[in-house]
Amino acid sequence: MSVGRRRLKLLGILIMVNFFIYVIVEVSKSGVHEKNAKGQVIIPRGKFWRKYTPHKAYWNKQQQKLELLYNPILTLLSNMTVEENVIFNSSVLNSCVLDPSVTTEVSDFENLPGRFKDFLFYLTCRNYSLLVDQPNKCKNKPFLLLAIKSLIPHFDRRQAIRESWGKEIKSKNMTIVRVFLLGQTPPEDNFPDLSDMLKFESETHKDILLWNYRDTFFNLTLKEVLFLKWVNNTCPETQFIFKGDDDVFVNTHQILDYLKSLTKEKAKDLFIGDVIKDAGPHREKKLKYYIPESVYEGSYPPYAGGGGFLYSGDLALRLNSASDKVLLYPIDDVYTGMCLQKLGLAPEKHKGFKTFDIEEKHRNNICSYTNLMLVHSRKPQEMIKIWTRLQDPHLNC
Ligand SMILES: *[C@@H]1O[C@H](CO)[C@@H](O)[C@H](O)[C@H]1NC(C)=O
Ligand SMILES: *[C@@H]1O[C@H](CO)[C@@H](O)[C@H](O)[C@H]1NC(C)=O
Ligand SMILES: *[C@@H]1O[C@H](CO)[C@@H](O)[C@H](O)[C@H]1NC(C)=O
Ligand SMILES: *[C@@H]1O[C@H](CO)[C@@H](O)[C@H](O)[C@H]1NC(C)=O
Ligand SMILES: *[C@@H]1O[C@H](CO)[C@@H](O)[C@H](O)[C@H]1NC(C)=O
Ligand SMILES: *[C@@H]1O[C@H](CO)[C@@H](O)[C@H](O)[C@H]1NC(C)=O
Repeated sequence: MSVGRRRLKLLGILIMVNFFIYVIVEVSKSGVHEKNAKGQVIIPRGKFWRKYTPHKAYWNKQQQKLELLYNPILTLLSNMTVEENVIFNSSVLNSCVLDPSVTTEVSDFENLPGRFKDFLFYLTCRNYSLLVDQPNKCKNKPFLLLAIKSLIPHFDRRQAIRESWGKEIKSKNMTIVRVFLLGQTPPEDNFPDLSDMLKFESETHKDILLWNYRDTFFNLTLKEVLFLKWVNNTCPETQFIFKGDDDVFVNTHQILDYLKSLTKEKAKDLFIGDVIKDAGPHREKKLKYYIPESVYEGSYPPYAGGGGFLYSGDLALRLNSASDKVLLYPIDDVYTGMCLQKLGLAPEKHKGFKTFDIEEKHRNNICSYTNLMLVHSRKPQEMIKIWTRLQDPHLNC
C-alpha cells in the first residue's frame, strides 16, 4: 500500500468513528428529553421539586422544621409562617428546657406510655457531659475500635468481653482498642448505687465512657449520638469501628480477616451488619418497639440491627455531622439508618451477622462459629467458652 492510500484509509476510519459518535449522542439526547409531535422538547410546567406537605405526626413535623433550618429555601414552598419557623432555630436545637407545647401538639399525649413523654419532652436535648472519659484511648491510631453498649450493672458481661473477643491488642502494625458506652442508672429508676464499683472498674481497665444521662432503651439514640461525637473528638483516626451490645459474641478473628481484605474504596464507605429493609414502626402497644401514629408516620430506611455492626472511621465522622440534621428517634438502630440515608448511603447486609442467633442444633458445634462475625445472644460464660475453643490450634473445621 502506498503512503497516500494508507492516509486515505485512516481518514475514512476517522470519519466513520465521528459519524458513530454523532449517532450515539443524538440517540442518547432523544432518550433524555420527551418531545412533542413537532419534535420540540417539552418543558414541564409544574414545579420540578416535590410539593411540601406538612406531616401530622409530631416527630415528622419537627424533623421538617429542622430541615427548613438547614435548607431555608424550602420555607418558600411551605405553608409555615415566618414565626413558626423562627421557633425552631439553632438555639432551640440544643435546648434542654422542657418543651410544654408537646402536650398539646401530640394529639394523644396524655395517654402515651411514660417513656414517650420522657422522650418527647427532651427531644432536642443532646448535649450531655462526659463524666468518665478515656482521652488517650486512640493515641496509637487504632485499626479497630470496639464500642460496646452496656449498662452499669453489667459488670460480668464487660469482664467476659475483656477476657474473650474484646481483648485490646497493641502490636507494632495493628492496634485494637475497646470502650464500653454507659449512661447513668439513677436511684429514681430503682438502681442500686454502684458508683464505687464502677470507679474501681474504670481505673483498673481504662475502658469506660460514662455520660450524664439516664440509661434507658429510648435513650440509646443519645448513646449513639454522643459516641459519634466522642469518635470525632477523641478517636477520629480509627480505621474501623465495631459497635454492638454486651450480650453478643463476636468472632474478632473473622472481622479482622474481612477488614484486611477490603480495598481502599470499599473500606471508605463500609457499613455492614444484619440489615433490615422495608420495615416500619410497630403499632402494637405491647411491643418494646411500639411507636404510636401520633409520634411517627412513614416507613423506616434500611438499617442494620443494633446488636452489632461494622463501619469505617471515615464514615463515623460523616455520620456525626449528619446526626445534627436528624432529630433523635426513640429506636437507635433506625436512627443510624436515617443518618446514613441523609448521607445518601445504605447499610449492606452481611450474612456473618447472626442477630437472630443460629439454629439451636448448631449452637454447640464450635465450627458454626469459625465463619461468622457476630451472634446474638450469648451469656458471659458462653462467650468465654466459645472464645477459648476458637483459640485451639488443632481446631479442624
Ligand atoms: C396553606 O395556607 C393556605 C392559606 O393560608 C390554606 O388555605 C391552606 O389550607 C394551607 N394548606 C395546608 C396544607 O395547610
Ligand atoms: C430562637 O427562637 C427563640 C424563641 O423561640 C428566640 O427567643 C431566640 O432569640 C431565637 N434565636 C435566634 C438565634 O434566632
Ligand atoms: C445544653 O446546652 C444548653 C444551652 O447551650 C444548656 O442550657 C443546657 O444546660 C445544656 N444541657 C446539658 C445537659 O448540659
Ligand atoms: C502485622 O505484621 C505481621 C507480621 O509481619 C503480619 O503477619 C500481619 O498481617 C500484620 N498485620 C497487619 C494488620 O498488617
Ligand atoms: C433520657 O435522659 C434524660 C437525661 O437524663 C432524661 O431526662 C430523660 O428522661 C431520658 N429519656 C428517656 C426516654 O428515658
Ligand atoms: C469534629 O471535630 C473537629 C475537630 O476537633 C471539630 O472542629 C468539629 O467541630 C467537630 N464536628 C462535629 C460535627 O462535632
